[in-house]
Amino acid sequence: MAAATVRCLLTIAVVLAPFLAGATAGGPLSTSFYSKKCPNVQGIVRAGVASAVAAERRMGASILRMFFHDCFVNGCDGSILLDDTSTFTGEKNAGPNANSVRGFEVIDAIKAQVEAACNATVSCADILALAARDAVNLLGGPTWTVYLGRRDALTASQSDANAKPPRLATLVAMFGNKGLSPRDMTALSGAHTVGQARCATFRDRIYNDANINATFASLRQQTCPQAAGGASDAALAPIDAQTPEAFDNAYYTNLMGKRGLFHSDQELFNGGSQDVLVKKYSGNAGMFAADFAKAMMRMGAISPLTGAQGEVRLNCRKVN
Ligand code: HEM
Repeated sequence: MAAATVRCLLTIAVVLAPFLAGATAGGPLSTSFYSKKCPNVQGIVRAGVASAVAAERRMGASILRMFFHDCFVNGCDGSILLDDTSTFTGEKNAGPNANSVRGFEVIDAIKAQVEAACNATVSCADILALAARDAVNLLGGPTWTVYLGRRDALTASQSDANAKPPRLATLVAMFGNKGLSPRDMTALSGAHTVGQARCATFRDRIYNDANINATFASLRQQTCPQAAGGASDAALAPIDAQTPEAFDNAYYTNLMGKRGLFHSDQELFNGGSQDVLVKKYSGNAGMFAADFAKAMMRMGAISPLTGAQGEVRLNCRKVN
């Protein structure tokens, strides 16, 4: 091959390298998307999440979960933020979200500040991706680079948001369908080291499962009676009984002690393929933090709308 051709190919490779690197970590997204258009966006989001978490620590968990539910239903496109109207049924009232996903007001408040600084520039989907990262970090968890440039969906799907994942094989398939590995799944499930759950979501487990620590089951039964349908359905319990407000690796020690609150959590340590990893994470907080951060970057890259797709919503609750 002629020297000039080799030089030319090398130049192309060097020029393309950052984009190819970006393609691995963030798909078509980029780290510098708003550097000129809205240089302060990251500071505004961080301050908004910090004040919400200072007012109520659980809000950090709620925002993290909102991002997960956004990304897993047709990609990270802000669709979960859309309100229902008389002619439109979105995701907010789907089974897993209704009376459960919370923090919409926090995103509204941040969006208002971002709009005041940079009108019609930053998508709600990107604000949510940044807010989830900051929420984890403010609760003591790791941080990571958020690739940006997501556009907001023009629609949302209640039926897609209704899917339920009970057993390990189903969970692996559910994450696999989104391009996430079983390792990503087990790391991301570590998000259940923070936040609260309603009795209705773990009642079956604490009364009917065999692979549950008996003391733990009776502790949870004290505030979650067996009879369904009453006010107790909404009674809250911490998902991680040890350190519910700290983003640490206690979730995995819980699983090893059969103290996973959800049936689906305990599936990760029940004699199956993820047992080894659960043990590793429970003994190595650094490994969990690093894997969680990587998995969140991959989750944040699930089917984003980019370029001319979708729009930049002015109000996260409705299409423009
Ligand atoms: C593996 C599949 C998963 C299942 C079946 C699941 C299920 C649940 C359930 C039933 C709740 C309680 C909801 C309520 O009582 O209203 C919950 C809460 C929560 N989930 Fe998950 N989850 C999963 C994965 C994830 C992932 C991947 C993340 C984040 C990366 C996450 C983050 C959270 C957080 C932070 C909370 C607490 C929210 C709050 O306190 O407001 N979950 N999850």
